[in-house]
Amino acid sequence: MNTNKQKILIVDDEIKLCKLLEINLKDRYEIIISTNGKEALNIIKSFEIDLVLTDLRLPGINGISLLEEIKAINPNIPIIIMTAYGTIESAVEAMKKGAYDYLLKPIKIKEVELIIERGLTYHNLIKENIRLKKELDKHYGFEQIITANPEMERIIRLCAQISQTNEPVLIEGESGTGKELIARGIHKNSPRANGPFVAINCAAIPKELLESELFGHERGAFTGAIYTKKGKFEIAENGTLLLDEIAEMPLNLQSKILRAIEQYEITRIGGVNPINLNIRLICTSNRNLKEEVEKGNFRMDLYYRLNVLNIKIPPLRERLEDIPLLVNHFIEKYKSLTRYANINVSPEILSVFSLYHWPGNVRELENCIKRMLILSPDGNLTIRDIPSEILSAVEEQVKFPFSKEELNKAKKIARQRAASEVERKFAISLLSKHKGNISRAAREIGMNRRQFQALLKRNKIFPEDYKN
Ligand SMILES: Nc1ncnc2c1ncn2[C@@H]1O[C@H](COP(=O)(O)OP(=O)(O)OP(=O)(O)O)[C@@H](O)[C@H]1O
Ligand SMILES: [Mg+2]
Repeated sequence: MNTNKQKILIVDDEIKLCKLLEINLKDRYEIIISTNGKEALNIIKSFEIDLVLTDLRLPGINGISLLEEIKAINPNIPIIIMTAYGTIESAVEAMKKGAYDYLLKPIKIKEVELIIERGLTYHNLIKENIRLKKELDKHYGFEQIITANPEMERIIRLCAQISQTNEPVLIEGESGTGKELIARGIHKNSPRANGPFVAINCAAIPKELLESELFGHERGAFTGAIYTKKGKFEIAENGTLLLDEIAEMPLNLQSKILRAIEQYEITRIGGVNPINLNIRLICTSNRNLKEEVEKGNFRMDLYYRLNVLNIKIPPLRERLEDIPLLVNHFIEKYKSLTRYANINVSPEILSVFSLYHWPGNVRELENCIKRMLILSPDGNLTIRDIPSEILSAVEEQVKFPFSKEELNKAKKIARQRAASEVERKFAISLLSKHKGNISRAAREIGMNRRQFQALLKRNKIFPEDYKN
C-alpha cells in the first residue's frame, strides 16, 4: 500500500463501474472499493479516508442514511454522490444534508477527476486548518490567529514569550493585519489574563477629549466636568491597555504618556494626588513610527520607551499561503449567513486573491468573503462572485477578461510569487537556524556569502532580525 497517496472510498453495488473508476484513478489515489453500505462504514471507521464517492441506491442502506452516518463518524470527509437522472431529487436532498457535490450517471472520467481534485483540495485545507488550530492551542493559546506563514509563526512564538513580561509592546503593521488580535493574544497569555483588556483608538477620539479619556478628571476640573471620571489608564488596572494608532497622539499628550509609563503613575486632570498604576501597555501603529520620529511628529524618547519589544506584522500580500486558510476560516465563520450547508470555492478564486494587493489586509478579505456568501445564489463561489473592485484591480495587473490564456498568465504570476515566497521562507529558516550568521547559513547550502546576501536583499530579509 502506498501511504503517500490520498485514500478514496468508492461505494457502488455496480462492480463494473467501481472497476472502471479504479482503473482510471489508481495511479493518483489509493482506491478502496465497497459494494455495500455496512462495509463502507466499517472502512471509514478503520482507515483515514480522504474522500468518498458513493451511489445513492445501495443494498441494505439508503444512500442518505449512509451519508448521515459517515458525517457522524467524520464530518469533514467530502462525499460525492453518484446518481442517475431518475434520482436527481435525492441528489439535491443529499447536497442539503452536506454532500460535497454530485455526479450524474453515466459517469464521465474527466468530470470525476475534476470533482475529486476539488474535493480533496477542500478537505486538505480543512485538515490543515484543524491541525494548525490544535498546534497553536497546545503551545500558545493564540488560537484565533490563523496562519501558515513562517514569519507569523515566529511572531506568535515571540508573543508567547513577551506575554510573560511587563514591558511595553509596539505592534506595527498595515490596517487590518491583525494588530489587535495579536494584542489580545498577548493579554490572554499573560499573568494579567483575568484583568481587563482596555482598548482606545487615539485616532477616533477628538483631540480635546483624548486627555480626559486617557487620564480621567476630577469633578470641577473644567466646565462640564460635573463628576469625577476614571480614565482608561485606571480602568485597565491589573490588566492591559491598548493604545491604538499611537502615531495620532498629540505631542503634549505624548509627554504625559511617557511619564505614566516611566513612573507607573498618573494624575487625573484637575487632580493633585498621583495614582499608582499596575498595567501592561501595548501600542499599535499602521504608520512606521520611526519615520514619524524623523519627521518630528513623534517624541523620540517615547518611541524608544515603547519600542523595547517591537513586532512588525507583514501585510497579507506578503503571506500568500495564508489566503486559502483564511478563506476557509471565514467561510466557516459566516456560513450560517447562507441557506447552504455546503460552500464550494472554485480554485480560480484563490488565484485571483493571490494576485490582489489587499490594502485592507485580513479585514478586507474577511468582509469580501462575508459579502460573497450573502450574495451567493447557490453556495458555489466562483470568479463571478468576487466584488467588482477587487476584480478590476487584478484586471489592471493581468488584463482581464478571464480568457483561458489570461487565466494561465495569472496563474503563472501566482506561481512565481509562490516560488519567491518559498525562497523567502527557506532563507528565513536558514537564518534562524544559524542565528543570523550569513556565512554559516550560506555555507550550509553551498552558496558564497555574496550570493546569499543578494538573495536576502532581494527578499527584504534583515539578518540582524535573527541574531537572538
Ligand atoms: N491571522 C488571522 N486569523 C484570523 N483572523 C484574523 C487574522 N488577522 C486578522 N484577522 C481578523 O481581521 C480583522 C482585523 O483584525 P484586527 O482588528 O486585529 O486588525 P488591526 O491590524 O488592528 O486593524 P486596524 O489597523 O484597522 O486597527 C478582525 O476581524 C480579525 O479577527
Ligand atoms: Mg486595530
